[in-house]
Amino acid sequence: MSDYNAADNSAKSYALAVDTMREKLESFHRVQIGDCTLYQGDCREILPLLPKVDAVVTDPPYGVGFKYESHIDCEESYPSFIWPIIEAAESLVCDGGPVFVWQGQKWMSRFHELFPRNWRVMIAAKNFVQMRATAMQFAYDPVVVWWKDGGKPYRAEPAYGCNRDYVISDCASAVSNTKALEKQHPCPRQVDVCEHVIGNWVIENGTILDPFMGSGTTGVACVKLGRKFIGIEIEPKYFEIACKRIQAAYDQPDMLVELEKKRSPEVQEGLPL
Ligand SMILES: C[S@@+](CC[C@H](N)C(=O)[O-])C[C@H]1O[C@@H](n2cnc3c(N)ncnc32)[C@H](O)[C@@H]1O
Repeated sequence: MSDYNAADNSAKSYALAVDTMREKLESFHRVQIGDCTLYQGDCREILPLLPKVDAVVTDPPYGVGFKYESHIDCEESYPSFIWPIIEAAESLVCDGGPVFVWQGQKWMSRFHELFPRNWRVMIAAKNFVQMRATAMQFAYDPVVVWWKDGGKPYRAEPAYGCNRDYVISDCASAVSNTKALEKQHPCPRQVDVCEHVIGNWVIENGTILDPFMGSGTTGVACVKLGRKFIGIEIEPKYFEIACKRIQAAYDQPDMLVELEKKRSPEVQEGLPL
């Protein structure tokens, strides 16, 4: 009789697979800053190696021909580019966790094609008018959002005091502060919109994943709100900016005071949407 043991064999195979994945993940350039784990590389290679997270909050390229350092923001291939990445990121989210994906207005009529889930759109309205012929067109950003089936979605008590579907972001100061570190990225998102989303819909102490972190805005919001963060950025130049911004957020002397001010006893409790 053979001494083959199926359970033992499968445990060994599993352990081997985990070791192989860990080794592969370690081959990417990684920087740890406090509770933020930052990977420099292509998210298509890194996402399958990551652990579970509580939410995805991401501002990907929009497929509008925007000029990045290396990424080709091609309109034609956008549908086949974006969904497999978002789907891979979503697969890491715990049951009931949210997925927030910033988008360009150009694709609004095709969101059903790009995001085949039961999504809704949150509008992030800007608090200034862009003084161009196309001003109204860019007066807001659509954010596609859905929650994974299965668990109880988290919703904070109104610690942030604003309408849940609508936020006026701090665009004016973001545009005028030309010395800000994030200005070295071509399209940094405003921190307050990310704070709004994370503060309202991601469980306290939760981990947020951003596979397109750019200059690290989602990470900065996570630091300010005491959440954990996993960020990925393909471009070394933007990755360095993200590292500096996230370190600077930790170095803010009033960071913990701000965090305590924003917390309220009720925000611990998960509530139905
Ligand atoms: C819209 S920007 C993100 C901006 C960011 N929210 C911020 O506040 O700076 C999209 C980012 O995705 C990065 N990117 C594009 N393709 C990528 C890929 N395959 N893996 C990881 N990052 C990628 C680009 O280099 C760019 O920095």
